[in-house]
Amino acid sequence: MAEKFAEIILDGVSYKLPIVEGSEGEKAIDIAKLRDMSGYITLDTGYKNTGATKSAITFLDGEQGILRYRGYSIEDLAEKSTFLEVAYLIIYGELPTKPELESFNHQIKIHTMINEDMRKIYDGFPVKGHPMGVMAAMASALATFYPELIDDPKKQKAELDLKIVRLLGKMPTMAAWAYKNSMGHPVNYPQNRFNYVENFLHMMFALPVEEYVLDPDVVDALEKLLILHADHEQNCSASTVRLVGSSQVSIYSAISAGISSLWGPLHGGANQEVLEMLEEIQKDGGNVDKYVAKAKDKNDNFRLMGFGHRVYKNFDPRAKIIKEACDKVLNKLGVHDPILEIAKKLEERALADDYFVEKKLYPNVDFYSGIIYKAIGIPTDMFTVMFALGRLPGWIAQWKEMRENNEPIGRPRQVYVGATKRDFVPIGAR
Ligand code: ACO
Repeated sequence: MAEKFAEIILDGVSYKLPIVEGSEGEKAIDIAKLRDMSGYITLDTGYKNTGATKSAITFLDGEQGILRYRGYSIEDLAEKSTFLEVAYLIIYGELPTKPELESFNHQIKIHTMINEDMRKIYDGFPVKGHPMGVMAAMASALATFYPELIDDPKKQKAELDLKIVRLLGKMPTMAAWAYKNSMGHPVNYPQNRFNYVENFLHMMFALPVEEYVLDPDVVDALEKLLILHADHEQNCSASTVRLVGSSQVSIYSAISAGISSLWGPLHGGANQEVLEMLEEIQKDGGNVDKYVAKAKDKNDNFRLMGFGHRVYKNFDPRAKIIKEACDKVLNKLGVHDPILEIAKKLEERALADDYFVEKKLYPNVDFYSGIIYKAIGIPTDMFTVMFALGRLPGWIAQWKEMRENNEPIGRPRQVYVGATKRDFVPIGAR
């Protein structure tokens, strides 16, 4: 097939730039050599229209509301697979066979415990310290306990596999212990008789005085939530993991950076913000219209949290599945949460409002997830931690792909707009 080119004319000179086409027909202009050829760079604050890599992990079409991991639809995976099956798929590229899944499960199970010295680190955090800060610190601490670096991921397959199962095994333990620490409760050690999700619920909620009784519908809802969060191509935290990882620092440090990036309210932190916003509306008398008006007011910084998305401009397919799961869990648990009523009213009003319709603002993945977490008993400040547990396979896969493809260190350029050269006038400080 003949190579395609884009032609760009700068200062009267024409330059030919190669066109790159993806397997789903996405097209890009490769501008890597533009500066060498012409002296120009491209400018795109917030990377709204910049492809930072070619990736074979996740496909999403924001206009049509399509999300697929390695070609498999999110709807199919959420209904029929387990989180660890999806994690394997995302990380290694293919669904595991039964023996492969059993071995993966087993390897993760034997890496769920945390070095006892790491447990002592928890004592140093303030009791009310945000668990996302704790998680980022603990992930970073893994790099000090397991300092070996991966120089060549293709040649060091066994070492990398070990790091992968360590991360997947230890993250739920680290998360549950962050919660237990904040409660002043003794931590629960992982138990091999449970599956991945059950084990996390056990570590979160079992008490020395009372066993936690697992509800299969709760386990199923959590399994779904983790699957729906497992990857989302080049979002803020995935790009952070790739960028930090591109300096060839430890994978644990790159994941820690991903956790910090996810924490922000415009990214994963939105799920906590959604619930806090709904509670505020409830306390304020449940006047949904007032908050829709606030969100539309240019002079008011307020935004409807859980609405809008950088890439989904039609609907977020994950939100659809979560909304159904939310109804199911609340019915099963017999929870009548007035917050859910407010959420539904808010969605109804916003979707019928010209402002939200014109700007293509729809409920995103975070809008309903918090209501499920709340019904299960997970406290608000742990919501983003739940997101991080789900996103972990995605971060690992993005890191692995970037390193296996031998991508160069990430280093964007800028257009300098600061002061031009000027002379330093000493004030006698030295
Ligand atoms: N409520 C009210 N207005 C909104 C909202 C919202 N939630 N989101 C966007 N808008 C408006 C903006 O004010 C802007 O209006 P303007 O064009 O008149 O200036 C327009 O819609 C476009 O918004 P941007 O912020 O430019 O869109 P961007 O793609 O940069 O941001 C984002 C997307 C960050 C998700 C945004 O919609 C938002 O802040 N939403 C609320 C936070 C949230 O739910 N985040 C979770 C995202 S999903 C995730 O990370 C898992």
